[in-house]
Formats: sequence, C-alpha cells, structure tokens
Amino acid sequence: MENNKTKSGISRQQFLQRTAMAGAAALLSNLEGFALTTADKKLRVAVIGCGSVSNRYLPQLQSSKLIEVVSLCDIKPERAEAQNKQYNVGAKTYPHIDAMLKGVPFDMMVTLTDMQIHGELNKKALLAGKHVWSEKPMANTYAEGKALLDLAKSKKLRLWGAPAVVNSPQFAFMSKTIQEGKLGKIAAAHGQYGHTGPTWSAFFYEKLGGSMPDLGVYNMATLTGLLGPARSVVAMLSIVKPERTVDDKGKIKVEAEDNAHILLEHDKGVISHVMCGFNYFDPHGHEAGNQTLHSIQIYGDAGNMRLIGYDWETNGVILDTHWDKPAELVSTDKGGYEWQEGARVTGESIITGIEPKINVEHALHVLEIIEAARKSQATGMRIKLKSKFPFPVVK
Ligand SMILES: NC(=O)c1ccc[n+]([C@@H]2O[C@H](COP(=O)([O-])OP(=O)(O)OC[C@H]3O[C@@H](n4cnc5c(N)ncnc54)[C@H](O)[C@@H]3O)[C@@H](O)[C@H]2O)c1
Repeated sequence: MENNKTKSGISRQQFLQRTAMAGAAALLSNLEGFALTTADKKLRVAVIGCGSVSNRYLPQLQSSKLIEVVSLCDIKPERAEAQNKQYNVGAKTYPHIDAMLKGVPFDMMVTLTDMQIHGELNKKALLAGKHVWSEKPMANTYAEGKALLDLAKSKKLRLWGAPAVVNSPQFAFMSKTIQEGKLGKIAAAHGQYGHTGPTWSAFFYEKLGGSMPDLGVYNMATLTGLLGPARSVVAMLSIVKPERTVDDKGKIKVEAEDNAHILLEHDKGVISHVMCGFNYFDPHGHEAGNQTLHSIQIYGDAGNMRLIGYDWETNGVILDTHWDKPAELVSTDKGGYEWQEGARVTGESIITGIEPKINVEHALHVLEIIEAARKSQATGMRIKLKSKFPFPVVK
C-alpha cells in the first residue's frame, strides 16, 4: 500500500483528493487512461475508538472491496488490540491519535470515541491531511463543526458526520411520497427514540452528552431530511434520573439531559416534534421486527405515513391516503441498507467519485438544532437557526 505514485503520475493523496472533489463523470475524463490496480484503489482507513460501536463498523468496513482498515487506536490500547484480533483486521494498533498520525499512512479516519472528544480528534486528523467520517456529533458546537468543515474545504479533504438515515429505501420512499404531493399539504410530524440508556460508558451522561446527540439526532436528521431545514427551535429538556451506575466509572452524577422534547419550525408552517430520552421502557423497540411499532409520523391534509421500526433500522412504511380503504404497509425492502454503513459508503465515494446522499451540512444543521435546544431550555426562549443544507436530500 505504500505505492505513492499512480500510473498517471499523480500522488495517491492527490488522487484521493481529486476523486473526493469530483463527480464520477468528471473523474473519468480527468483521469483518462488512469489504470489503477485493485490495491491502488483501496482507501486506507484508521479507526479511532474501539468500543461498543466498533463491533458494527469493523465488519462493515471490512466488507468493502474498496477499503482496507490499516490502523486501530484506543486510549485503552487493549481494546484496539482485542478488536484487531477479534475481527482479524491485520491493522497496526496505537494508544494515541498522535502516534497513529505519525504511524502507518492512511487516507481517512473513522471517529468512534466518546462524543465530547470527536471535534478535537477530527481537527487533528484534518490538519494531518486525512478525510474524516465521524460518529455523531462531529463536534460539540455548531461553530466548532463549521470550523472543521472550513478546514476540510481549505485542505480539499472530505468530512462527514453520522447518522446515515437518509440512505434507507424507506427514507427515499417517504421523501418521494411527500414531494409527489400524495399526503397533500404537510402540516405536522413526530419522531421518537428512547431506551433505558447505555450502561457501559459515563460520557453519555456527562456534559455535552445526553439523549439528543445519542438518540434524538436520528429523528432530527430524518425529519429535517424529509421536511427541510428548521428555522427555529423550542425545547424542554430535563434530567429524570440524576444518578446512574455505568461500567467504566461506577456511580455517576447525570449532567446532560436524559429526557428531551424539541419542537422544530420548518418552512410553509410545517411543525415537527422530536421526543427522545434514556428512560423509555421499550423492550421490543430495538428488535424493530414488530410491524406495528412506528417511530416517525408525517401528517398532511390528504394523507399520513408512519415509519415502521426505527428511522435508523427501517422495516417499512404504513401509508394512509384513502377515506374508504385501510392503510397499507409499503416499502418493506431494506435494499441492503444498514445504519452502520455511513463510513463505508462515504469512504467508497472517495474512491469512486460518486457523491453520497449523506451530506456534512445536514449533520451540521442537526448539530445546530441540538445546541439550540439546550439554549432554549436554558433561556426559555425560541432559538433561531442559521444553517441550511442541500434540500431535498432525495431528488
Ligand atoms: N454503541 C452503539 O451501539 C452506538 C451506535 C451508534 C452510534 N454510537 C456512537 O458511537 C460513539 C461511541 O460509542 P460507543 O458506544 O462505542 O462508546 P464506547 O465507550 O463503547 O467506546 C468509545 C471508545 O473510545 C475510546 N476513546 C475515548 N477517548 C479516546 C481518545 N481520545 N482516543 C482514542 N480512543 C478514545 C474509549 O476508550 C472507548 O473504547 C458515540 O458517539 C456514540 O453515540 C454508538
């Protein structure tokens, strides 16, 4: 993999930058006669944070012919070593990002650490010339996230943030149904996601953690992705359980909200609502196999639809558009979509030059919503938003 010059004479880094910035067609004409070997084409990925979610990411990344995981890093180094062995990755392992950045060369960092440190790690990677896929949130504040995007652009690098909900066929179906006017004039929508809270790590409950960046983030991405950017936010947040016991720190004080209701104002009078928390008894939800449980509802004056399962693990859509006929279950094919595919899909896009649906400005908009909800709770005020993203997501 240390083949730094391609047959067309541009460096590997330049190739990856050019493919990341160009569309597939432009890429082909730019790189006429550009014959890459399979090894040349692989994107070298470094994963930082080898905890719970890495169990989902590693097999997903390994399933790609265009990706090779070359480095694993965790401040608990035994975790990086254990994952290397468990998934037979064959990567080099590191106890710190600085050592990893100086170690085996790679093209893209996949950030899977505690939420609060994402922004700092993502910045280090971008400064070192790496593309970045980050678990949510990509930074602690909108300003920090926007600065990361500006940095990425200035260095001709790509930056993306979870979640990948816009990739599901059910999201595409719902978006198309709205755009075709099948629900009439859209008025209101609701999204919800909760469980009884992670038991393994304290960061979920520490400052700048909470149920919004961990759970509500999916609904916020889905609802804004379907209805358009939010213009303003009003929220009520609370802490229902002030103390918790978690594996890594024992008994802790809960500092971030574990119960959140967020109202979003979209264009044309549309209002949506997100409800999320770490105190929801929902024993069947995670299995998402029950065809009757829905997590997203959209209402217009000529129809409504309900997303079955979760917006990150979709099972179908119940569409109700007739006074005289029962609602029907439609769009039940997942088409291979998996919620943990974001890093793979965006990583592959760097190689193929085909722009993915996941858009960094959308992730930044959701980050601004989370920050605004905290501000609304603190001040009792309605908070205006400034960010937008390319809409509609599905054309
Ligand atoms: N667990 C899930 O099912 C899940 C699902 C979707 C998204 N996520 C998101 O993934 C992220 C990680 O969640 P998790 O559940 O895997 O947490 P986790 O606590 O299991 O894992 C985080 C890992 O990051 C490591 N780490 C912390 N700071 C580090 C640093 N500076 N450098 C290197 N390593 C560092 C920790 O030692 C730990 O091993 C969060 O943003 C979470 O919201 C988790």
